[in-house]
Amino acid sequence: MQPHASSKSSAQLPLNLKSFAITRNAFLPEHSPCKALSNAYYQAWETVALSLPTLLASGELRTAIRSLPILSVDFLQSEAEWRRAYVILGFMMHGYVWGGDHPEEVLPPQIAVPLLQVSNHLELPPVLTYAAASLWNFSSDEGDFSDLESIKTLFTFTGTESESWFFLISVAIESKAASAIPAMLLALDAVREKDFTTITQALWQLRTCIQDLHGLLQRMYERCDPAVFYHKIRPFLAGSKNMEAAGLPRGIFYDEGGDKGEWRSLRGGSNGQSSLIQFFDIVLGVDHSTPIPGQQSFHEEAREYMPGPHRRFLSYVELLGSIQKLAIAAKLSRDPVQVRLCEAYTAATEALAMFRSEHMQIVTRYIILPARSAGQGVGSRRLDVEKRPQNLASLTISAREGSYKLRGTGGTMLVPFLRKARDVTIEAGRLDKNAGVLLLSGQRWFYGLFLLAMPCFFVLLLTPQHLSLLQ
Ligand code: HEM
Repeated sequence: MQPHASSKSSAQLPLNLKSFAITRNAFLPEHSPCKALSNAYYQAWETVALSLPTLLASGELRTAIRSLPILSVDFLQSEAEWRRAYVILGFMMHGYVWGGDHPEEVLPPQIAVPLLQVSNHLELPPVLTYAAASLWNFSSDEGDFSDLESIKTLFTFTGTESESWFFLISVAIESKAASAIPAMLLALDAVREKDFTTITQALWQLRTCIQDLHGLLQRMYERCDPAVFYHKIRPFLAGSKNMEAAGLPRGIFYDEGGDKGEWRSLRGGSNGQSSLIQFFDIVLGVDHSTPIPGQQSFHEEAREYMPGPHRRFLSYVELLGSIQKLAIAAKLSRDPVQVRLCEAYTAATEALAMFRSEHMQIVTRYIILPARSAGQGVGSRRLDVEKRPQNLASLTISAREGSYKLRGTGGTMLVPFLRKARDVTIEAGRLDKNAGVLLLSGQRWFYGLFLLAMPCFFVLLLTPQHLSLLQ
Protein backbone atom coordinates (compact mmCIF):
# COMPACT_ATOMS: atom_id res chain seq x y z
CA MET A 1 0.00 0.00 0.00
CA GLN A 2 1.33 3.47 -0.85
CA PRO A 3 -0.99 6.00 0.75
CA HIS A 4 1.30 8.93 0.02
CA ALA A 5 2.52 8.01 -3.44
CA SER A 6 3.08 10.93 -5.77
CA SER A 7 0.60 11.32 -8.61
CA LYS A 8 1.35 9.83 -12.03
CA SER A 9 1.54 11.46 -15.44
CA SER A 10 -0.49 10.52 -18.50
CA ALA A 11 2.69 9.16 -20.14
CA GLN A 12 2.21 6.12 -17.88
CA LEU A 13 -1.22 5.25 -19.25
CA PRO A 14 -2.01 1.55 -18.93
CA LEU A 15 -3.32 1.14 -22.49
CA ASN A 16 -3.08 2.41 -26.03
CA LEU A 17 -6.05 4.72 -26.46
CA LYS A 18 -5.64 4.87 -30.25
CA SER A 19 -6.70 1.24 -30.54
CA PHE A 20 -10.07 2.31 -29.08
CA ALA A 21 -10.39 5.31 -31.45
CA ILE A 22 -9.93 7.67 -28.53
CA THR A 23 -8.03 10.80 -29.43
CA ARG A 24 -6.77 13.89 -27.66
CA ASN A 25 -10.38 15.05 -28.16
CA ALA A 26 -11.76 12.02 -26.31
CA PHE A 27 -14.49 10.29 -28.35
CA LEU A 28 -14.35 12.97 -31.05
CA PRO A 29 -11.97 12.48 -33.98
CA GLU A 30 -8.37 13.70 -33.84
CA HIS A 31 -8.98 16.18 -36.67
CA SER A 32 -12.04 18.12 -37.77
CA PRO A 33 -14.30 15.77 -39.85
CA CYS A 34 -13.88 16.11 -43.62
CA LYS A 35 -16.04 18.67 -45.42
CA ALA A 36 -16.64 16.63 -48.59
CA LEU A 37 -16.19 13.12 -49.99
CA SER A 38 -13.18 13.50 -52.26
CA ASN A 39 -14.36 11.34 -55.18
CA ALA A 40 -16.77 13.23 -57.48
CA TYR A 41 -18.66 9.92 -57.79
CA TYR A 42 -20.42 10.86 -54.51
CA GLN A 43 -21.52 14.31 -55.68
CA ALA A 44 -25.18 13.24 -55.84
CA TRP A 45 -25.15 12.31 -52.12
CA GLU A 46 -23.38 15.53 -51.20
CA THR A 47 -25.89 17.65 -53.13
CA VAL A 48 -28.96 16.06 -51.57
CA ALA A 49 -27.54 15.98 -48.03
CA LEU A 50 -26.43 19.60 -48.12
CA SER A 51 -29.87 20.67 -49.43
CA LEU A 52 -31.88 18.75 -46.84
CA PRO A 53 -33.53 21.85 -45.26
CA THR A 54 -34.67 23.17 -48.67
CA LEU A 55 -35.80 19.79 -50.00
CA LEU A 56 -37.70 19.03 -46.79
CA ALA A 57 -39.37 22.44 -46.73
CA SER A 58 -40.54 22.07 -50.35
CA GLY A 59 -41.66 18.46 -49.83
CA GLU A 60 -39.29 17.21 -52.57
CA LEU A 61 -36.85 15.15 -50.52
CA ARG A 62 -38.48 11.74 -50.98
CA THR A 63 -38.58 12.18 -54.76
CA ALA A 64 -34.98 13.43 -54.82
CA ILE A 65 -33.81 10.36 -52.88
CA ARG A 66 -35.76 7.92 -55.02
CA SER A 67 -34.12 9.46 -58.10
CA LEU A 68 -30.58 8.85 -56.79
CA PRO A 69 -28.43 6.05 -58.25
CA ILE A 70 -27.53 3.21 -55.85
CA LEU A 71 -23.90 4.13 -55.16
CA SER A 72 -21.12 1.74 -54.22
CA VAL A 73 -19.03 2.31 -51.07
CA ASP A 74 -15.86 1.17 -52.88
CA PHE A 75 -14.62 4.70 -53.54
CA LEU A 76 -14.55 5.92 -49.93
CA GLN A 77 -10.92 6.84 -49.29
CA SER A 78 -10.37 6.92 -45.55
CA GLU A 79 -11.97 6.25 -42.17
CA ALA A 80 -12.97 9.93 -42.08
CA GLU A 81 -14.81 9.42 -45.39
CA TRP A 82 -16.61 6.30 -44.15
CA ARG A 83 -17.79 8.40 -41.23
CA ARG A 84 -18.96 11.23 -43.49
CA ALA A 85 -20.83 8.73 -45.66
CA TYR A 86 -22.53 7.39 -42.52
CA VAL A 87 -23.53 10.92 -41.45
CA ILE A 88 -24.87 11.75 -44.94
CA LEU A 89 -26.86 8.51 -45.23
CA GLY A 90 -28.16 8.77 -41.65
CA PHE A 91 -29.48 12.28 -42.24
CA MET A 92 -30.95 11.31 -45.62
CA MET A 93 -32.63 8.28 -44.05
CA HIS A 94 -34.30 10.22 -41.23
CA GLY A 95 -35.28 13.02 -43.59
CA TYR A 96 -36.85 10.43 -45.89
CA VAL A 97 -38.73 8.58 -43.12
CA TRP A 98 -40.03 11.57 -41.13
CA GLY A 99 -40.13 14.29 -43.81
CA GLY A 100 -43.81 14.13 -44.74
CA ASP A 101 -47.29 14.13 -43.25
CA HIS A 102 -46.91 10.46 -42.38
CA PRO A 103 -43.74 8.46 -41.75
CA GLU A 104 -42.48 6.37 -44.67
CA GLU A 105 -41.90 2.79 -43.51
CA VAL A 106 -39.97 1.51 -46.54
CA LEU A 107 -36.41 2.73 -46.94
CA PRO A 108 -35.49 2.61 -50.65
CA PRO A 109 -32.32 0.78 -51.86
CA GLN A 110 -30.70 4.14 -52.73
CA ILE A 111 -30.18 4.62 -48.99
CA ALA A 112 -30.68 1.13 -47.52
CA VAL A 113 -27.93 -0.61 -49.55
CA PRO A 114 -25.01 1.76 -48.87
CA LEU A 115 -26.17 2.55 -45.33
CA LEU A 116 -26.09 -1.13 -44.39
CA GLN A 117 -22.55 -1.43 -45.76
CA VAL A 118 -21.23 1.75 -44.17
CA SER A 119 -22.74 1.03 -40.77
CA ASN A 120 -21.39 -2.51 -40.91
CA HIS A 121 -17.90 -1.11 -41.54
CA LEU A 122 -18.19 1.31 -38.61
CA GLU A 123 -19.85 -1.31 -36.36
CA LEU A 124 -22.92 0.87 -35.88
CA PRO A 125 -26.63 0.22 -36.47
CA PRO A 126 -28.05 1.54 -39.78
CA VAL A 127 -29.74 4.58 -38.26
CA LEU A 128 -28.93 8.18 -37.25
CA THR A 129 -27.05 7.67 -33.99
CA TYR A 130 -25.40 10.20 -31.68
CA ALA A 131 -22.16 9.52 -33.59
CA ALA A 132 -23.82 10.69 -36.84
CA ALA A 133 -25.63 13.67 -35.33
CA SER A 134 -22.86 15.03 -33.13
CA LEU A 135 -19.52 13.17 -32.89
CA TRP A 136 -18.85 13.31 -36.65
CA ASN A 137 -21.18 16.14 -37.71
CA PHE A 138 -19.13 19.27 -37.12
CA SER A 139 -16.23 21.22 -38.53
CA SER A 140 -13.67 23.38 -36.82
CA ASP A 141 -11.11 25.67 -38.43
CA GLU A 142 -9.62 26.69 -35.09
CA GLY A 143 -8.88 23.21 -33.73
CA ASP A 144 -10.55 23.76 -30.32
CA PHE A 145 -13.66 21.59 -30.55
CA SER A 146 -15.03 22.95 -27.27
CA ASP A 147 -15.21 26.51 -28.65
CA LEU A 148 -18.90 26.99 -29.44
CA GLU A 149 -18.18 30.23 -31.29
CA SER A 150 -16.02 28.57 -33.94
CA ILE A 151 -17.42 25.03 -34.46
CA LYS A 152 -20.13 24.52 -37.08
CA THR A 153 -22.48 21.67 -38.01
CA LEU A 154 -22.02 19.89 -41.34
CA PHE A 155 -25.65 18.76 -41.78
CA THR A 156 -29.03 19.68 -40.31
CA PHE A 157 -32.64 18.93 -41.20
CA THR A 158 -33.98 22.42 -40.66
CA GLY A 159 -31.10 24.80 -41.30
CA THR A 160 -31.98 26.54 -38.02
CA GLU A 161 -29.55 27.87 -35.45
CA SER A 162 -31.51 25.93 -32.80
CA GLU A 163 -30.67 22.64 -34.49
CA SER A 164 -26.97 23.41 -34.97
CA TRP A 165 -26.70 24.58 -31.38
CA PHE A 166 -28.39 21.39 -30.11
CA PHE A 167 -25.82 19.18 -31.88
CA LEU A 168 -22.84 21.44 -31.12
CA ILE A 169 -23.40 21.64 -27.36
CA SER A 170 -22.72 17.90 -27.31
CA VAL A 171 -19.56 18.32 -29.40
CA ALA A 172 -18.28 20.94 -26.95
CA ILE A 173 -19.16 18.72 -23.99
CA GLU A 174 -17.30 15.73 -25.46
CA SER A 175 -14.26 17.86 -26.23
CA LYS A 176 -14.17 19.65 -22.87
CA ALA A 177 -13.98 16.31 -21.06
CA ALA A 178 -10.95 15.04 -22.97
CA SER A 179 -8.38 15.41 -20.20
CA ALA A 180 -10.57 13.53 -17.71
CA ILE A 181 -10.14 10.28 -19.65
CA PRO A 182 -6.38 9.74 -19.15
CA ALA A 183 -6.64 11.07 -15.58
CA MET A 184 -9.35 8.58 -14.68
CA LEU A 185 -7.58 5.70 -16.41
CA LEU A 186 -4.53 6.39 -14.25
CA ALA A 187 -6.80 6.50 -11.22
CA LEU A 188 -8.34 3.13 -12.09
CA ASP A 189 -4.87 1.71 -12.54
CA ALA A 190 -3.91 3.12 -9.14
CA VAL A 191 -6.68 1.14 -7.41
CA ARG A 192 -4.53 -2.01 -7.50
CA GLU A 193 -1.73 -0.33 -5.55
CA LYS A 194 -4.14 1.59 -3.34
CA ASP A 195 -2.46 4.83 -4.42
CA PHE A 196 -5.04 7.03 -2.72
CA THR A 197 -3.32 10.30 -3.66
CA THR A 198 -3.45 9.72 -7.41
CA ILE A 199 -7.08 8.60 -7.20
CA THR A 200 -8.11 11.54 -5.03
CA GLN A 201 -6.49 14.07 -7.37
CA ALA A 202 -8.14 12.48 -10.40
CA LEU A 203 -11.56 12.51 -8.70
CA TRP A 204 -11.29 16.24 -7.96
CA GLN A 205 -10.27 16.77 -11.58
CA LEU A 206 -13.29 14.73 -12.68
CA ARG A 207 -15.58 16.76 -10.46
CA THR A 208 -14.32 20.05 -11.94
CA CYS A 209 -14.66 18.60 -15.43
CA ILE A 210 -18.29 17.51 -14.83
CA GLN A 211 -19.07 20.96 -13.44
CA ASP A 212 -17.65 22.50 -16.63
CA LEU A 213 -19.88 20.18 -18.67
CA HIS A 214 -22.82 21.23 -16.52
CA GLY A 215 -22.05 24.83 -17.50
CA LEU A 216 -22.01 23.87 -21.18
CA LEU A 217 -25.29 21.96 -20.83
CA GLN A 218 -26.92 25.10 -19.39
CA ARG A 219 -25.83 27.01 -22.49
CA MET A 220 -28.44 24.97 -24.44
CA TYR A 221 -30.96 27.71 -23.57
CA GLU A 222 -28.85 30.41 -25.25
CA ARG A 223 -29.57 29.50 -28.88
CA CYS A 224 -31.84 26.45 -28.97
CA ASP A 225 -35.50 27.42 -28.91
CA PRO A 226 -37.67 24.82 -27.07
CA ALA A 227 -40.62 25.13 -29.47
CA VAL A 228 -38.40 24.81 -32.55
CA PHE A 229 -36.65 21.85 -30.93
CA TYR A 230 -39.87 20.08 -29.99
CA HIS A 231 -41.90 20.64 -33.17
CA LYS A 232 -39.28 20.90 -35.93
CA ILE A 233 -36.05 19.15 -34.90
CA ARG A 234 -36.83 16.30 -32.53
CA PRO A 235 -39.29 14.48 -34.84
CA PHE A 236 -36.39 13.84 -37.26
CA LEU A 237 -34.27 12.17 -34.59
CA ALA A 238 -36.85 9.51 -33.76
CA GLY A 239 -36.04 5.88 -34.46
CA SER A 240 -38.40 3.06 -35.33
CA LYS A 241 -38.41 1.17 -32.03
CA ASN A 242 -41.45 1.74 -29.78
CA MET A 243 -42.77 4.17 -32.42
CA GLU A 244 -46.15 2.49 -33.04
CA ALA A 245 -48.06 5.58 -31.91
CA ALA A 246 -45.90 7.84 -34.11
CA GLY A 247 -46.89 5.78 -37.17
CA LEU A 248 -44.30 2.99 -37.45
CA PRO A 249 -46.01 -0.12 -36.03
CA ARG A 250 -43.61 -2.55 -37.71
CA GLY A 251 -40.41 -0.54 -37.71
CA ILE A 252 -38.75 0.18 -41.05
CA PHE A 253 -38.31 -2.11 -44.03
CA TYR A 254 -34.77 -1.79 -45.43
CA ASP A 255 -35.37 -2.52 -49.10
CA GLU A 256 -32.16 -3.85 -50.64
CA GLY A 257 -33.66 -4.27 -54.11
CA GLY A 258 -34.83 -7.43 -55.87
CA ASP A 259 -36.68 -9.46 -53.25
CA LYS A 260 -34.14 -8.70 -50.56
CA GLY A 261 -34.89 -6.66 -47.47
CA GLU A 262 -35.64 -6.80 -43.77
CA TRP A 263 -37.85 -5.12 -41.16
CA ARG A 264 -35.82 -3.50 -38.38
CA SER A 265 -36.84 -1.66 -35.23
CA LEU A 266 -34.02 0.55 -34.03
CA ARG A 267 -33.75 3.31 -31.49
CA GLY A 268 -33.25 6.83 -32.79
CA GLY A 269 -30.49 9.30 -32.12
CA SER A 270 -30.14 10.13 -28.43
CA ASN A 271 -27.40 11.75 -26.40
CA GLY A 272 -27.89 8.74 -24.16
CA GLN A 273 -25.60 7.04 -26.71
CA SER A 274 -22.67 9.19 -25.55
CA SER A 275 -19.74 6.98 -24.49
CA LEU A 276 -18.44 9.83 -22.34
CA ILE A 277 -21.27 9.84 -19.82
CA GLN A 278 -21.16 6.03 -19.62
CA PHE A 279 -17.41 6.29 -19.02
CA PHE A 280 -18.10 8.52 -16.00
CA ASP A 281 -20.68 6.01 -14.75
CA ILE A 282 -18.21 3.14 -14.97
CA VAL A 283 -15.44 5.09 -13.27
CA LEU A 284 -17.76 6.05 -10.40
CA GLY A 285 -19.51 2.69 -10.16
CA VAL A 286 -22.96 4.00 -11.13
CA ASP A 287 -25.01 0.92 -11.99
CA HIS A 288 -27.86 1.31 -14.51
CA SER A 289 -28.50 -2.40 -15.03
CA THR A 290 -32.04 -3.70 -14.53
CA PRO A 291 -32.82 -6.28 -11.86
CA ILE A 292 -34.95 -8.25 -14.37
CA PRO A 293 -32.93 -11.27 -15.57
CA GLY A 294 -32.33 -11.34 -19.33
CA GLN A 295 -33.58 -7.77 -19.83
CA GLN A 296 -31.17 -5.18 -21.25
CA SER A 297 -31.22 -1.73 -19.70
CA PHE A 298 -31.28 1.38 -21.94
CA HIS A 299 -27.66 2.03 -21.05
CA GLU A 300 -26.59 -1.51 -22.00
CA GLU A 301 -28.51 -1.29 -25.26
CA ALA A 302 -27.08 2.18 -25.96
CA ARG A 303 -23.64 0.58 -26.22
CA GLU A 304 -24.77 -1.07 -29.46
CA TYR A 305 -25.36 2.42 -30.83
CA MET A 306 -21.79 3.55 -30.17
CA PRO A 307 -18.92 3.10 -32.66
CA GLY A 308 -17.37 -0.38 -32.19
CA PRO A 309 -14.01 0.78 -30.74
CA HIS A 310 -15.73 3.05 -28.18
CA ARG A 311 -18.01 0.21 -27.12
CA ARG A 312 -14.98 -2.04 -26.62
CA PHE A 313 -13.23 0.70 -24.64
CA LEU A 314 -16.11 0.84 -22.16
CA SER A 315 -16.07 -2.96 -21.77
CA TYR A 316 -12.33 -2.77 -21.15
CA VAL A 317 -12.67 -0.03 -18.53
CA GLU A 318 -15.27 -2.12 -16.71
CA LEU A 319 -12.60 -4.74 -16.08
CA LEU A 320 -10.26 -2.27 -14.35
CA GLY A 321 -10.27 -1.59 -10.60
CA SER A 322 -13.29 -0.21 -8.74
CA ILE A 323 -12.79 3.21 -7.21
CA GLN A 324 -16.18 2.92 -5.57
CA LYS A 325 -15.23 -0.23 -3.65
CA LEU A 326 -12.02 1.39 -2.50
CA ALA A 327 -13.96 4.46 -1.33
CA ILE A 328 -16.50 2.29 0.52
CA ALA A 329 -13.69 0.49 2.34
CA ALA A 330 -11.98 3.85 3.01
CA LYS A 331 -15.19 5.11 4.65
CA LEU A 332 -14.44 2.80 7.57
CA SER A 333 -10.94 4.25 8.03
CA ARG A 334 -9.79 7.30 10.01
CA ASP A 335 -6.61 7.71 7.95
CA PRO A 336 -6.82 11.32 6.64
CA VAL A 337 -5.60 10.24 3.20
CA GLN A 338 -8.47 7.80 2.92
CA VAL A 339 -10.93 10.34 4.32
CA ARG A 340 -9.87 12.71 1.53
CA LEU A 341 -10.48 10.00 -1.05
CA CYS A 342 -14.04 9.58 0.24
CA GLU A 343 -14.63 13.33 0.06
CA ALA A 344 -13.38 13.48 -3.52
CA TYR A 345 -15.46 10.44 -4.54
CA THR A 346 -18.64 11.89 -3.02
CA ALA A 347 -17.97 15.27 -4.66
CA ALA A 348 -17.54 13.64 -8.10
CA THR A 349 -20.75 11.58 -7.83
CA GLU A 350 -22.64 14.64 -6.60
CA ALA A 351 -21.42 16.61 -9.62
CA LEU A 352 -22.66 13.86 -11.96
CA ALA A 353 -26.03 13.69 -10.17
CA MET A 354 -26.34 17.47 -10.51
CA PHE A 355 -25.52 17.22 -14.21
CA ARG A 356 -28.36 14.70 -14.52
CA SER A 357 -30.74 16.95 -12.55
CA GLU A 358 -29.91 19.84 -14.90
CA HIS A 359 -30.53 17.51 -17.84
CA MET A 360 -33.97 16.66 -16.43
CA GLN A 361 -34.79 20.37 -16.26
CA ILE A 362 -33.75 20.72 -19.89
CA VAL A 363 -36.01 17.81 -20.80
CA THR A 364 -38.86 19.53 -18.98
CA ARG A 365 -38.29 22.78 -20.92
CA TYR A 366 -37.68 21.15 -24.31
CA ILE A 367 -40.10 18.22 -24.29
CA ILE A 368 -42.55 18.03 -21.41
CA LEU A 369 -43.81 21.63 -21.46
CA PRO A 370 -44.13 21.88 -25.28
CA ALA A 371 -45.91 18.50 -25.32
CA ARG A 372 -48.29 19.68 -22.65
CA SER A 373 -49.12 22.97 -24.37
CA ALA A 374 -49.60 21.23 -27.71
CA GLY A 375 -51.98 18.78 -25.98
CA GLN A 376 -54.02 21.47 -24.27
CA GLY A 377 -54.71 23.56 -27.38
CA VAL A 378 -57.63 25.99 -27.42
CA GLY A 379 -60.82 26.15 -29.44
CA SER A 380 -59.27 24.98 -32.70
CA ARG A 381 -57.49 22.02 -31.07
CA ARG A 382 -59.19 19.24 -33.01
CA LEU A 383 -58.44 20.93 -36.35
CA ASP A 384 -54.81 21.51 -35.32
CA VAL A 385 -54.33 17.88 -34.36
CA GLU A 386 -55.80 16.71 -37.65
CA LYS A 387 -53.54 19.04 -39.66
CA ARG A 388 -50.38 18.12 -37.79
CA PRO A 389 -48.04 15.60 -39.45
CA GLN A 390 -47.85 12.24 -37.72
CA ASN A 391 -44.57 12.00 -35.80
CA LEU A 392 -43.07 12.25 -32.33
CA ALA A 393 -44.31 15.84 -31.90
CA SER A 394 -47.92 14.89 -32.61
CA LEU A 395 -47.94 12.57 -29.58
CA THR A 396 -49.22 15.27 -27.27
CA ILE A 397 -50.16 14.68 -23.65
CA SER A 398 -53.02 15.99 -21.63
CA ALA A 399 -52.59 17.13 -18.03
CA ARG A 400 -54.61 14.08 -16.98
CA GLU A 401 -52.33 11.61 -18.75
CA GLY A 402 -49.22 13.30 -17.31
CA SER A 403 -45.70 13.38 -18.67
CA TYR A 404 -45.10 9.74 -17.71
CA LYS A 405 -46.44 8.69 -21.13
CA LEU A 406 -43.89 10.64 -23.15
CA ARG A 407 -41.20 8.81 -25.08
CA GLY A 408 -37.68 9.98 -25.90
CA THR A 409 -36.20 9.80 -29.39
CA GLY A 410 -34.32 6.78 -28.08
CA GLY A 411 -37.70 5.21 -27.34
CA THR A 412 -37.63 5.37 -23.51
CA MET A 413 -40.55 6.39 -21.25
CA LEU A 414 -38.44 9.41 -20.60
CA VAL A 415 -39.58 10.76 -17.22
CA PRO A 416 -39.25 7.59 -15.08
CA PHE A 417 -36.14 6.62 -17.04
CA LEU A 418 -34.26 9.89 -16.48
CA ARG A 419 -35.31 10.09 -12.83
CA LYS A 420 -33.99 6.57 -12.22
CA ALA A 421 -30.69 7.40 -13.97
CA ARG A 422 -30.26 10.42 -11.66
CA ASP A 423 -31.29 8.49 -8.53
CA VAL A 424 -28.86 5.61 -9.06
CA THR A 425 -26.10 8.22 -9.42
CA ILE A 426 -27.02 9.69 -6.03
CA GLU A 427 -27.21 6.16 -4.62
CA ALA A 428 -23.70 5.31 -5.83
CA GLY A 429 -22.28 8.24 -3.86
CA ARG A 430 -23.90 7.25 -0.55
CA LEU A 431 -20.77 5.77 0.95
CA ASP A 432 -22.27 5.48 4.48
CA LYS A 433 -25.08 3.28 3.25
CA ASN A 434 -22.84 1.25 0.97
CA ALA A 435 -20.28 0.80 3.76
CA GLY A 436 -23.12 -0.42 6.00
CA VAL A 437 -24.08 -3.07 3.46
CA LEU A 438 -20.42 -4.12 3.20
CA LEU A 439 -20.15 -4.51 6.96
CA LEU A 440 -23.40 -6.39 7.24
CA SER A 441 -22.06 -8.95 4.83
CA GLY A 442 -18.79 -9.20 6.79
CA GLN A 443 -17.79 -9.72 10.40
CA ARG A 444 -18.42 -6.16 11.63
CA TRP A 445 -22.19 -6.56 11.05
CA PHE A 446 -23.17 -4.65 14.18
CA TYR A 447 -21.43 -1.47 12.97
CA GLY A 448 -23.05 -1.98 9.56
CA LEU A 449 -26.51 -2.22 11.11
CA PHE A 450 -25.80 0.99 13.01
CA LEU A 451 -24.82 2.86 9.82
CA LEU A 452 -27.92 1.67 8.00
CA ALA A 453 -30.27 2.39 10.90
CA MET A 454 -28.92 5.86 11.67
CA PRO A 455 -31.38 7.74 9.36
CA CYS A 456 -34.30 5.91 11.11
CA PHE A 457 -33.14 7.18 14.52
CA PHE A 458 -33.29 10.72 13.21
CA VAL A 459 -36.84 10.22 11.95
CA LEU A 460 -37.89 8.87 15.36
CA LEU A 461 -36.49 12.00 17.02
CA LEU A 462 -38.70 14.26 14.92
CA THR A 463 -41.53 15.82 16.90
CA PRO A 464 -44.98 16.47 15.37
CA GLN A 465 -43.95 20.17 15.03
CA HIS A 466 -40.97 19.15 12.87
CA LEU A 467 -43.19 16.97 10.74
CA SER A 468 -45.64 19.78 10.05
CA LEU A 469 -42.74 21.95 8.93
CA LEU A 470 -41.71 19.31 6.43
CA GLN A 471 -45.15 19.17 4.76
C1 HEM B 1 -32.39 19.88 -25.69
C2 HEM B 1 -31.47 19.10 -25.15
C3 HEM B 1 -31.72 17.67 -24.73
C4 HEM B 1 -32.88 16.98 -24.64
C5 HEM B 1 -34.29 17.46 -24.95
C6 HEM B 1 -32.55 15.65 -24.20
C7 HEM B 1 -33.46 14.63 -24.03
C8 HEM B 1 -33.17 13.36 -23.60
C9 HEM B 1 -34.12 12.29 -23.47
C10 HEM B 1 -35.59 12.38 -23.81
C11 HEM B 1 -33.48 11.21 -23.03
C12 HEM B 1 -34.09 9.83 -22.73
C13 HEM B 1 -33.54 8.78 -23.65
C14 HEM B 1 -34.25 8.75 -24.99
O1 HEM B 1 -35.25 8.06 -25.12
O2 HEM B 1 -33.80 9.45 -25.91
C15 HEM B 1 -32.09 11.58 -22.86
C16 HEM B 1 -31.11 10.76 -22.38
C17 HEM B 1 -29.85 11.16 -22.16
N1 HEM B 1 -29.29 12.37 -22.50
FE1 HEM B 1 -30.23 13.98 -23.20
N2 HEM B 1 -31.20 15.55 -24.00
C18 HEM B 1 -30.65 16.77 -24.32
C19 HEM B 1 -29.32 17.09 -24.30
C20 HEM B 1 -28.33 16.27 -23.83
C21 HEM B 1 -26.95 16.62 -23.80
C22 HEM B 1 -26.31 17.90 -24.35
C23 HEM B 1 -26.31 15.57 -23.21
C24 HEM B 1 -24.84 15.45 -22.98
C25 HEM B 1 -24.05 14.68 -23.69
C26 HEM B 1 -27.29 14.56 -22.88
C27 HEM B 1 -27.05 13.36 -22.30
C28 HEM B 1 -27.98 12.35 -22.12
C29 HEM B 1 -27.69 11.09 -21.50
C30 HEM B 1 -26.33 10.63 -20.95
C31 HEM B 1 -28.85 10.35 -21.51
C32 HEM B 1 -29.07 8.92 -20.97
C33 HEM B 1 -29.67 9.02 -19.58
C34 HEM B 1 -28.62 9.23 -18.51
O3 HEM B 1 -27.61 8.50 -18.53
O4 HEM B 1 -28.84 10.12 -17.65
N3 HEM B 1 -28.52 15.04 -23.28
N4 HEM B 1 -31.94 12.89 -23.22
